[in-house]
Amino acid sequence: MNSLSQEKINEIRNSVNIVDVISSYVSLIPKGKNYFGVCPFHDDNNPSMSVSPSRQIYKCFSCGATGTVFKFVMDYENISFKEAVKKIADLGGVSVDVGSIKKVKDHKSLHDLYDLSLKFYTNNINVAGGKEAKKYLENRNINDEVIKEFQIGLALNSKDGLSSILTKKFNNDDIMKSGLIGKNEYGYFDLFFDRIMFPLYDLDGQVVAYSGRIYNRKDNSKYFNTKETEIFRKGELLYNYHRAKQSARQKNQIIVMEGFMDVIRSYTIDVKNVIATMGTAVTQNQAHLIKRMAKNVILCFDGDAAGEKATMACSDILMNIGVTPQIVRLEDGLDPDEYIQKYGKEAFNKKLENPISVMDFKISYLKNGKNLNNSVDKAQYIEEIIKEIAKIEDEILKDITIKKVATDISIDEDLIKNHLNQKPKEVRKEKKLVIENIKETKYEKAEKSLLYYMLQSPEVIKMYKKKVPYLPTTEYRLLAREISAFYEKSGFINEADFIDYIECDEELMDTISKVSKNKTSAKYSLEEIEDYINVIKEYNINNEIKRLKKQMNEKQTPSEKVKIATKIIELKKGV
Ligand code: CTP
Ligand code: MN
Repeated sequence: MNSLSQEKINEIRNSVNIVDVISSYVSLIPKGKNYFGVCPFHDDNNPSMSVSPSRQIYKCFSCGATGTVFKFVMDYENISFKEAVKKIADLGGVSVDVGSIKKVKDHKSLHDLYDLSLKFYTNNINVAGGKEAKKYLENRNINDEVIKEFQIGLALNSKDGLSSILTKKFNNDDIMKSGLIGKNEYGYFDLFFDRIMFPLYDLDGQVVAYSGRIYNRKDNSKYFNTKETEIFRKGELLYNYHRAKQSARQKNQIIVMEGFMDVIRSYTIDVKNVIATMGTAVTQNQAHLIKRMAKNVILCFDGDAAGEKATMACSDILMNIGVTPQIVRLEDGLDPDEYIQKYGKEAFNKKLENPISVMDFKISYLKNGKNLNNSVDKAQYIEEIIKEIAKIEDEILKDITIKKVATDISIDEDLIKNHLNQKPKEVRKEKKLVIENIKETKYEKAEKSLLYYMLQSPEVIKMYKKKVPYLPTTEYRLLAREISAFYEKSGFINEADFIDYIECDEELMDTISKVSKNKTSAKYSLEEIEDYINVIKEYNINNEIKRLKKQMNEKQTPSEKVKIATKIIELKKGV
C-alpha cells in the first residue's frame, strides 16, 4: 500500500520529539506530563491543544483535531502525508529516498499517459505550427516565462497528433479512459485540436485534465474541457491549489477567482495566493478546501452580473461552513485578468487591500435594479435583506447591519427587528432540526466509546472481535475494521503507530477526532465496555426485527410468515 515501510515511518517519527516540532509552530507551555498550546486548527484563544511527549500525539479538546507529528505538519502546512514524512525525516536527520516519497499512484498508467501528453502539447507551442498560438499568447501578454510556469501547450490542427503517440505506449483501456482521445470505425482520433492547452492539476499538482482555448477561429465554445475521468473530478479540485497553498498559508489569506487566466495574470504581478473555481458553482468539497487553505478568504470574481451572482452563491456556501469571506468587486464588468492589464499591479493590489464585508456586498447586491423610491421595490428589498440578516450568527454584526440598513433606506430599526422576530418560527424550526440531528443517540455514543478504548487497549479490541459482529454506523465500522487489522498485523495497539499506519487518511482521521473528542482518560472498566457492547447489540437486534417485520408485511406465504414471526420472538428475547 505504500512505498515507505511502516518501520521506516516509525523510525522517522521517533527521530524527532513532537513537542519540539509543534513548538516551532505554536508556543507550548508544560503542564503536568503534557504541554499545552492554542490549537491552530480552529479559531481559539485558549490553550485547548495538548501535546503528549510520552504518546507522541497531539489532541485538541475543543475541536477534536488529533494525530501524530506527521498529521500536524500536514494540516499546518497543507502538504501530503509523504511530504510531511520527508520534512520530519530532514528534521530528524534520517535519510529517506526522495523517489519513494512520490505519491503511490492508484492510476499510474493514466497519470503516465497525462505526463506524456503534457510533453507533447508543451513541445508543440515551440514548433513551426505553433507560431500563431504563440503570437496569440504574446498579444495577451503571456510571455515565455509564464508559458513555462503554467505549462501552457498547444494541440495542433491535426486529428491524430496525440493519438498516434499514445497508441504506441498505452493500451486501449487507458487511452479511452483518458478523455483525450475518441474512437470510430477508422481508429483513434484526438479530441483536442487547434486549441491552446491549459493543463489542470489535481491537489498534488499532477496534470489530470486540460482546458483547451480557441485562438484562431470561431467555435461555439471558447473553452473545451476534458470530461470527468477517474483522476479528474472538477468539483473536487481548484485551479492552482498546489501552487497557492504555501503562499496562502504564509499570508493567511486566499483569493478566489473564477477563471484560470485570472490566476495566471495574478501570478505575473506576484499575487500567488490565488486559486480559481473555473466557472462552475462552488461545491461543498471545494468550499472545504478553500477553508483549509487560509483563514481569510477574498472572493474576487468577474465584475459582470454573472460574477456578482457567483459571489453571492459562493458566499452562502462558505458562510454555511463558518467562513465569512470578504469581497472585491471590479468595475466596468472587468475580470481580474482584464483589470490588471488595464489598471496595473498597484491598482489591483489596492483593490485587494480594500475588500468590502460580505454584508455590505449583499446589501448592494439586493438593491441592484430596484428603485427604492418605489414602495413595492423597497418592500421587496426589505424582505430580502431581512432574510440575509436572519442568517447572521454574530449578534453584534447583526445589530450593526440592522442599523446600517435602516439608516441607508431611512426606515425605523424596529421595523427590521420586529420582522426578524416574526420570522423566527421558520428559522427556529430549522435550527431545532439541526440540533436534533447533531444530538447523538446512545448507540452512537456506545460505538464511539468502544472505539476510543479500542485505540488504547488490545483487551478491548479482543472483546470487540469476539462479541461485536457489526457496528451500525458506517464510519465507525470502517475505523473498527482498520484498528482490528492493524492489531492483527502488529500484535499491539498505540494511537501514534495506528495513525501512521492509516497514513493520516482524512476520513479515518475525522472519525478518530470524533471518537476521541472530550475523552481524556485511557482508564475503563470491563463492565463499562460490556455495557457499550450490549447497547450496540440491542441496536442491531432492533434493526433486524425491523427488517424482519418489513419482510413479513411483504408478500409471504402464511407458513413463511410464521417462520419470520418465530424469528422475531426469538430476537426479542435477546433485547
Ligand atoms: N469556462 C469553461 N468553459 C467555457 C467558459 C468558461 O470551462 N466555455 C471556465 C474556464 O475554466 C474559465 C472559467 O470558466 O477559466 C471562467 O470563464 P471566463 O470568465 O469566460 O474565462 P476567462 O478567464 O475570462 O478566459 P479568457 O480571458 O481566455 O476569455
Ligand atoms: Mn478573461
